[in-house]
Amino acid sequence: MKLFIDSGNLEDIETYAALGIIDGATTNPSLMAKEAGDSRQIVKRICEIVRGPVSAEVLATDYEGMVREGRDLATIDPHIVVKVPFTKDGVKACATLRQDEIDVNVTLVFSPAQALIAAKVGATFVSPFVGRLDDIATDGMDLIQQIVEIYDNYEFGTEIIVASTRHPMHIVQAARMGADICTCPPAVLEGLFKHPLTDIGIERFLKDWEQAKGARA
Ligand code: E4P
Repeated sequence: MKLFIDSGNLEDIETYAALGIIDGATTNPSLMAKEAGDSRQIVKRICEIVRGPVSAEVLATDYEGMVREGRDLATIDPHIVVKVPFTKDGVKACATLRQDEIDVNVTLVFSPAQALIAAKVGATFVSPFVGRLDDIATDGMDLIQQIVEIYDNYEFGTEIIVASTRHPMHIVQAARMGADICTCPPAVLEGLFKHPLTDIGIERFLKDWEQAKGARA
């Protein structure tokens, strides 16, 4: 399973990319609004760092605007994936951009029916938001299971990006279900590394080594 970083922060992206675990990145208008500087330049730099698919979202909400903005975003870097929201205009824009051979990520997906439609118009990626479903007392990971089943039934090529992840168990469950990708904010990536027994184990090994060496000296 591929891991994407869900962030527009260059420092965080550099940190986790340096570990060799990042296959791509996702951004959205809320994340980009937090970063100072020119968004296009930031996105370009993200592409240079991750050297994999980088989702940049359109701000337009109408078909013509999304297509215009999407075509423009695609000129930033060959790694750009144009992110469009799941609406009728977004679905139509996805089909047009795909005809132009521009990669598209259909975002804000909250139902298996929406994921089916995104796949039917040839979306490169679909982004179901698990955390926001959990927030309203609905099982986000159950949505992932249903989308995996539907895509497998018909061998759709659309890749599933498990989005809006909140904790490491979302990533573990996604991997068990066979989702293609998880996009994780830095805090969730950090959580993937932590285990108290690892820390205790290192401490004990070093202590044992020092004791034995000291006794022999
Ligand atoms: C995904 O592409 C989105 O940027 C992101 O996962 C949204 O997460 P949130 O629900 O934590 O805002």
